[in-house]
Amino acid sequence: MKRIILIGYMGAGKTTVGRALARELGLQFYDLDWYIESRRHKKVAQIFAESGEDAFRQIERNMLHEVAEFEDVVISCGGGTPCFFDNIDYMNRQGDVVYLKCHPDVLRAHLLMGRTERPLLKGKTPEQLTDFIVEQLQAREPFYTKAQHKLDVTLMDNYDKIRITVERLKGILQL
Ligand code: S3P
Repeated sequence: MKRIILIGYMGAGKTTVGRALARELGLQFYDLDWYIESRRHKKVAQIFAESGEDAFRQIERNMLHEVAEFEDVVISCGGGTPCFFDNIDYMNRQGDVVYLKCHPDVLRAHLLMGRTERPLLKGKTPEQLTDFIVEQLQAREPFYTKAQHKLDVTLMDNYDKIRITVERLKGILQL
């Protein structure tokens, strides 16, 4: 039975890489944010706006406990998932957790290009975004680094990035 869980900051590429890894390994793919949205019939941004972050984190925890029971899956979590409750310890017990580590400059570039609505970044100017990423990443690193595995994806920004990342993940996970 395989259960691979990807964590890392917003914009690190968890969803893209997770989907590609699942396809390569013939596993089911779950994105935790999408799972939350389909179970609650609401966008993540809408949950934040209507109920606030604390309520979102509670829902996120509950949904994590659902998906992390599924077998033969790759799961991409939200950037904040490992940083609340005992989520990271739970994930480590449930599967192979990989931290996709990425330099703040690259995260920023991805986030500025991205189309996903991210409530935590709403209304920030590009300058404020830089400071916010650096500070929040620093606060979150102690949680991220509790993952059993780590892969730096910073230096792989080329057209073949996804394929290379998947190969490296297979190496790390000995698959
Ligand atoms: C969040 C990251 C988002 C989403 C929510 C909060 C965070 O997921 O769960 O907006 O706290 O970092 P992505 O990392 O997929 O953007």
